[in-house]
Amino acid sequence: MCPNSLNDLFKDGLKHAYYTEQQLVDATEELANQSSEGEIASAFSEHHDETQGHVNRIETVFDAIGESPETKSDSAVEGLINDHDEFASQDPDQNVLDRFNIAAGQKSEHYEIAMYGNLIPLADQLGMDDVADTLEQNLREEQDALEKLSTIGEEFDYGQLPSE
Ligand SMILES: [Fe+2]
Ligand SMILES: [Fe+2]
Repeated sequence: MCPNSLNDLFKDGLKHAYYTEQQLVDATEELANQSSEGEIASAFSEHHDETQGHVNRIETVFDAIGESPETKSDSAVEGLINDHDEFASQDPDQNVLDRFNIAAGQKSEHYEIAMYGNLIPLADQLGMDDVADTLEQNLREEQDALEKLSTIGEEFDYGQLPSE
């Protein structure tokens, strides 16, 4: 069916978000397991738990709009995950991988922030205040995760990295 309405636009975005969050449940777990440094691993592990909560919140949104939860594959998140996997598969120095993973996490948070930053005003326009509030909770956790990762990136000890 051709998307022709504000409602179609919202539902399409919600399906992409549902897929994206499911992919990121696994990705954040992998990032946590791959990180050697405690602060980085715990940031990913904490956000892994939050990400599972994001999946659950999206399911409550589907319920609120009277639809069964449905995913729609999202090439943007797949691209982010593939790029990460390709880098990690080259068996990099552990500290180099840690620094790479911080950036990989930041990119996915930026993507999720853009995703919710668009879905929330669509929900508002459709008069679905409760749905907008639920999505806003996910957005806030993405923003906090981005802030945490950005701080870790800024404070990263580059002296650990081989220069060549
Ligand atoms: Fe999320
Ligand atoms: Fe996130």
